[in-house]
Amino acid sequence: MANPPVIAIDGPSSSGKGTVATLVAERLGWHLLDSGALYRGVAWAAIQRRIDLDDASALEAMTRQLVFEIRPGNIHIDGIDVTQAIREEPISVGSSRVARLKPVRDALRIVQVGMRRPPGLVADGRDMGTKVFPTAELKVFLDASVEERARRRHKQLIDKGSSVSLCDLFASLRARDERDRSRSVSPLRAAEDAVMIDTTEMPISAVVEEVLGHAAERSLTGSGTRRGE
Ligand code: DC
Repeated sequence: MANPPVIAIDGPSSSGKGTVATLVAERLGWHLLDSGALYRGVAWAAIQRRIDLDDASALEAMTRQLVFEIRPGNIHIDGIDVTQAIREEPISVGSSRVARLKPVRDALRIVQVGMRRPPGLVADGRDMGTKVFPTAELKVFLDASVEERARRRHKQLIDKGSSVSLCDLFASLRARDERDRSRSVSPLRAAEDAVMIDTTEMPISAVVEEVLGHAAERSLTGSGTRRGE
């Protein structure tokens, strides 16, 4: 039987890919994979166990043992709800460290590929279209200027009650972009066959419609409810 279809949505931090992927999955009734949450989960579990974030073999052994349960809106690791905990700043920094390690990426690829279930999967991350799902039926690369992405992230944090300077955010986004694009393993880049969308001046709703339009052109349509929920 053919593999269930995949829509891969990649892009840099705060390009809007998480929100767009969530809305596209809802509209199609497909499963959603927030692959960044897995890297965050590995960093969280390693910190809990006091494993050094540069120790590739210990991290690989740990990752292969972890039980991830991912549902819309929440993620459990070994039965513990880590949805909020993995969004903390030390975990953001830790996740970008563990994401550089190939053994960790290989162990997580097995988890990610296992999420390709009927009726289809919308997967967001950095290497969904290039490495994890190279045969995805639709690949989208979302980008936006670093100024606009810093403004969006700033607004998100202010709405959540955190205070952080726009200037600091701008600098940290630039640094993270640089790390993600220049790392030797699975660097952030668009797949050759990806549809490029610059979201700098687009509202999220327009981006969602554009992605759904490309999906419809490829006969990727909604089929109601996600199985297993
Ligand atoms: O998308 P995010 O901020 O939740 O991702 C957390 C970290 O994981 C980020 O540093 C990039 C990394 N990541 C990755 O290397 N590959 C992915 N497919 C998803 C995230």
